[in-house]
Amino acid sequence: MLDEIKNFYERIKLKGVEDDVDDGEAPITFIHVFKKAYPRLPSIILPRIDSKSELEKILESRESTREFSNEPINLEELSKILKSCRIVDEKREPEKRTYPSAGARFPIEFYVISYNVDGLNKGAYHYNMDRSVLEVLWQKDLDYRQPEITGTNIKNPAATIVLTSVISRSEVKYWYKALPLSYLEAGHIGQNIVLSAAENNIGACPVSGFVDDTLIEILDLTEGEIPVYTISLGKRKGL
Ligand SMILES: Cc1cc2nc3c(=O)[nH]c(=O)nc-3n(C[C@H](O)[C@H](O)[C@H](O)COP(=O)(O)O)c2cc1C
Repeated sequence: MLDEIKNFYERIKLKGVEDDVDDGEAPITFIHVFKKAYPRLPSIILPRIDSKSELEKILESRESTREFSNEPINLEELSKILKSCRIVDEKREPEKRTYPSAGARFPIEFYVISYNVDGLNKGAYHYNMDRSVLEVLWQKDLDYRQPEITGTNIKNPAATIVLTSVISRSEVKYWYKALPLSYLEAGHIGQNIVLSAAENNIGACPVSGFVDDTLIEILDLTEGEIPVYTISLGKRKGL
């Protein structure tokens, strides 16, 4: 990993759960959604679209869920959500996936932390997209680390998908820009995951407020692979 990226990453790392922004104390300027508008300029009225495609219905149903029920999700549901991120055509050069990647460097790796998944022991797994399998890193109850993995305002998740970046894959082509490009790619992937969760009636919350070193330790990441995004999943309460 380039020194500049390493130093910058060290500066932006969340060092402990107490470092996260506390939304509860947020001033009104944080809560208000600001938008630009140009009332003095002419505007073009966009054509009205009355029909809603399946995708549009799913887009509208997406919202962040932070408190989950005690009901587990099952392995099939987890599998469907993971498969929103898959290789579609491995023969195409470069291989085609369900999400884009700058320069097709595909630096993002996927992991699953399981707390309450029917058919999957508690533990940490690597999602091997080529073989469509979960590789067992360790089968261990990680519930006591959950607030560090998900951020403290996520309650009772069934699983967390962790996205990491093997930054050197992208550095060889993009140099320092590799870091923001990894976050952009993780954003594309995150959207696939939250839309797939919405389609399958599973609650999801994308979170950047995890403790970096906790994930590095639990996933045994070597230098050059950094956690960039997590998406926690579970059954929504009261359904
Ligand atoms: C990059 C990113 C990081 C986020 N990090 C957190 C987080 O650390 N904790 C959290 O509770 N929600 C997090 N969220 C979820 C947002 O708070 C949520 O999307 C926002 O409040 C709008 O609500 P909605 O998703 O239900 O529309 C994150 C969302 C994004 C896009």
